[in-house]
Amino acid sequence: MERQLFSPIIWKDERLFLIDQRILPSEEHWVECRRVEEVAEAIRSMIVRGAPAIGITAGYGVALAFRRDAVQHVKDVDTYFEQVYTTLIETRPTAVNLRWALDRMKTLFNQIKHGSVQDMYEALVREARSIHEEDIALNRKIGEHGAHLVQKPVRVLTICNAGALATGGYGTALGIIRSLHEQGKLVMVYAMETRPFLQGARLTVWELTREAIPVTLICDNMVGLLMKQNKVDIVVTGADRIARNGDTANKIGTYMVAVLANYHSIPMYIAAPYSTVDLNTFTGNDIPIEERHSAEIIYIQKVPITVPDVQVWNPAFDVTPAELITGIVTEKGVFERPYEESLVQAYTANA
Ligand code: MRU
Repeated sequence: MERQLFSPIIWKDERLFLIDQRILPSEEHWVECRRVEEVAEAIRSMIVRGAPAIGITAGYGVALAFRRDAVQHVKDVDTYFEQVYTTLIETRPTAVNLRWALDRMKTLFNQIKHGSVQDMYEALVREARSIHEEDIALNRKIGEHGAHLVQKPVRVLTICNAGALATGGYGTALGIIRSLHEQGKLVMVYAMETRPFLQGARLTVWELTREAIPVTLICDNMVGLLMKQNKVDIVVTGADRIARNGDTANKIGTYMVAVLANYHSIPMYIAAPYSTVDLNTFTGNDIPIEERHSAEIIYIQKVPITVPDVQVWNPAFDVTPAELITGIVTEKGVFERPYEESLVQAYTANA
């Protein structure tokens, strides 16, 4: 029997509920958002995180901004929409899914902005719901495509959390892992703990153990030995932005894993919705890398692990060059090098 699909994002009674990913797995607490500013803060503070999940959340954020009580004193809806867009887009710079979802909401807004406030609100809610539901469906497709890549049972290494928690549900990298598990082709998942926010230790391990998917947690600095001892067959990670040439931004540490995978001749796959491909970003050098607060490194669960005023560098993402990526798995299929050609072709084929 299939387990009910988990989503970290719930829209109910004209409100948005987000599972608080800062405190999982110790507590399963849902945060309620009624205003767009609360949604923006939830994204900024990583109550919700993961590229697709951020985009979906922002879509609902736009809808909340157009609730009757929120727009009653608004004079000019165009200016107001731009303010809402800016509030949300400025929360996190690297994941392009945020902009993609906001642009989709904007396209709809421009079609409906002359209607009644109630009609406008209802249409925006419907669009946000569609983004959410489509994301779940395409994650299942990513899972299917990814599972076809291997014929015999494999041991998979993953970083961060590209699972249900990072998406509308099911996950991208973890979508492939779920598919492999469903098909009896998964031996073990090695989850990197993913300092400093510990998405691997806290979130990936939580997700996989709930479904009895075999997982072994490792510290980030154990990857080299793990590969050397021949314990990894394939690496699968998510993505926050894929440049036109295939260079891919993902959680800090992915680049290090890709270099190691290359050295050990282990295939390295990226799993992401096609909306993560940003054809306007030509190479990885053009992708903005978010730098986060030093406190994330200095403290673990509010306990200092170093000298509290030490100088810290905390980039949240890095870029893996296309040449180190074996394939990019999207809902449209698996793309191979040269990515500049395959990714652009897929866009024009569906345009
Ligand atoms: O800082 P985060 O937790 O938002 O970073 C998340 C990642 O890097 C994920 O791998 C990526 O967003 C893909 S999630 C399907």
